[in-house]
Amino acid sequence: MASLEGKTALVTGASRGIGRAVAERLAADGALVAVNYARDEAAAAETVAAITKKGGRAFPVRAELGVPGDVDALFAALDRELGSDAPVDVLVHNAGINVSAVIEDVTPEMYDRGFAVNTRAAFFVTRRALARMPDGGRIVTITSGVTRIAFPEGIAYAMTKGALDSFTLALAKHLGPRGITVNNVAPGIIDTDINAGWLRGDADAWRASAARAALGRVGEPSDVADVVAFLASDDARWVTGATIDATGGSDL
Ligand SMILES: NC(=O)c1ccc[n+]([C@@H]2O[C@H](COP(=O)([O-])OP(=O)(O)OC[C@H]3O[C@@H](n4cnc5c(N)ncnc54)[C@H](OP(=O)(O)O)[C@@H]3O)[C@@H](O)[C@H]2O)c1
Repeated sequence: MASLEGKTALVTGASRGIGRAVAERLAADGALVAVNYARDEAAAAETVAAITKKGGRAFPVRAELGVPGDVDALFAALDRELGSDAPVDVLVHNAGINVSAVIEDVTPEMYDRGFAVNTRAAFFVTRRALARMPDGGRIVTITSGVTRIAFPEGIAYAMTKGALDSFTLALAKHLGPRGITVNNVAPGIIDTDINAGWLRGDADAWRASAARAALGRVGEPSDVADVVAFLASDDARWVTGATIDATGGSDL
């Protein structure tokens, strides 16, 4: 039996990039996957189609996170598909945006938006999901390797992710009595749309990024998804409150 057979997983920001890879992997492990997205309906449909083509089960859930009413919209869409009593066994906070600027260039709007999508949404989606997460559930949050280095070019972005380290530590302690584990996966530079502007098509940037990883290449979304799958599985039952580095041994 696949390890997540009979479980339901909600993956935020699963239409593209790392979230899509996570959705595909959790579905391959047997989960029914709710593929959340904000805008790109076609990409979400592609993710669902890729999963069903391989015999998995998934459905799209449109809800833009980080805006007023986001949690209500997300769970209303989920309820329409599953019913309001359906459990969420695995919750993956993946939706995220960059705030690429030094402090002098970060406006209050950029700062608030970064925290709204990357941090606030994870907090309040969790708060809502807890009522329907069975004992033994799993919460995995995609943070970033930049929380352990000085990253002035993305100071506000790093802060949005650093706050999630505190979130995960406290929540793991709080939910331990229910057997729910709470962990982070911290990727390095991964080839996704979020980096398209500076990485793809720039051979020098690509080479430099690859050289930063001990393993000598730019990461793929599946490199991160496989770590998430481990944390979602029973094999990781004794791991909680942890941040797993998935940077390929990178100094970023
Ligand atoms: N790629 C990297 O190098 C890297 C490194 C470290 C950490 N991370 C983190 O990994 C996560 C995924 O990044 P990625 O590189 O896969 O990004 P991506 O390729 O830009 O994909 C982002 C995904 O999140 C969704 N999304 C964006 N804003 C959203 C919102 N407000 N509400 C709901 N969904 C939203 C997008 O949906 P739509 O298609 O509808 O827009 C898309 O599915 C992020 O948290 C990011 O910070 C990435």
